[in-house]
Amino acid sequence: MAQSNHDFIERKVGWLIVFTLMTVSVGGLVEIVPLFYQKSTTTPVEGLKPYDPVRLVGRDIYIREGCYNCHSQMIRPFRAETERYGHYSVAGEYVYDHPFQWGSKRTGPDLHRVGGRYSDQWHRIHLINPRDVVPESNMPAFPWLDRPAKIDDIEAKMTALRKVGVPYSDEEIAGARKALEGKTELDTLVAYLQGLGTALQAGKQVAAAPAVAPAAASEKQ
Ligand code: HEC
Repeated sequence: MAQSNHDFIERKVGWLIVFTLMTVSVGGLVEIVPLFYQKSTTTPVEGLKPYDPVRLVGRDIYIREGCYNCHSQMIRPFRAETERYGHYSVAGEYVYDHPFQWGSKRTGPDLHRVGGRYSDQWHRIHLINPRDVVPESNMPAFPWLDRPAKIDDIEAKMTALRKVGVPYSDEEIAGARKALEGKTELDTLVAYLQGLGTALQAGKQVAAAPAVAPAAASEKQ
C-alpha cells in the first residue's frame, strides 16, 4: 500500500508539488514560529525606546533614500567586527524595527552603532556632500535633504506601528506633529542616525545575548 501511494505521488507532478510544499512549510513554521515567542527575540534590551516621531521620520527617509543598499545594521559577533564597530548586535535591539534595517551589503560601513560617533554637524556635512569630510568617499551626496520634513502622515504611521506592537501612547501620537514642527529631512535623518545602537552603548547590560558568543567577541567589552 505504502508503495503504491508513493508511486502515485511520483507520477502526478501536481500532487508532488503540493506535498513538497506542505512538507517544506511544516519545516519552515517549526523554525520560524518559536522566534515570535522567544524572550530573547521579543524583549527589548534595557534602555531601548521606540523611535520618537523625529527619528521615525528619519528612519523612513533612510528607507526612501535606499541607505540600506550600502549599509548594514547588524554587527556580527566576530572580533574583526566588534573591534571596529563596538558591541555585536542582539535581537532585543530590533524589537521596535518594523521593518528591520539589517541590510545585506556593506559598500559603506555598518551603521548599527554609529549613534554618537560623530557630531550632528559632521553628519549634516557628510550627507549633503560626503567628500567634504571624507575626501575618498564614494557615498552619493543627498543635498535635497535640506527641506522641510513631511509631517501630515505621522499619526497614521505611529498608529500603524502600534498595531504591530510598538507601545506608543495616545499622547505621544497626539504630540507628534508638534515635535516635528520646523524640522528638515536632514534633522530627522541625523536624529535617527544619532540614536542608532545607543541602547547598548556605555557598557549597559546585554539583556539578550546570543546563546553562543565567541570568546573573541566578548574580550572587547
Ligand atoms: C552607494 C553606496 C552608499 C549609499 C547609498 C549610502 N552610503 Fe553611506 N557610506 C558609503 C561609503 C562607501 C561610506 C564610507 C565613506 C564615508 O564615510 O563617506 C559611507 C559612510 C557613511 C557614514 C559614516 C559611517 C562611519 O562609521 O564612518 C554614515 C553615517 C552614512 N554613510 C550614512 C548614510 C545614509 C544615512 C545614507 C542614505 C541617505 C547612506 N549613507 C547612503 C556608501 C553609501
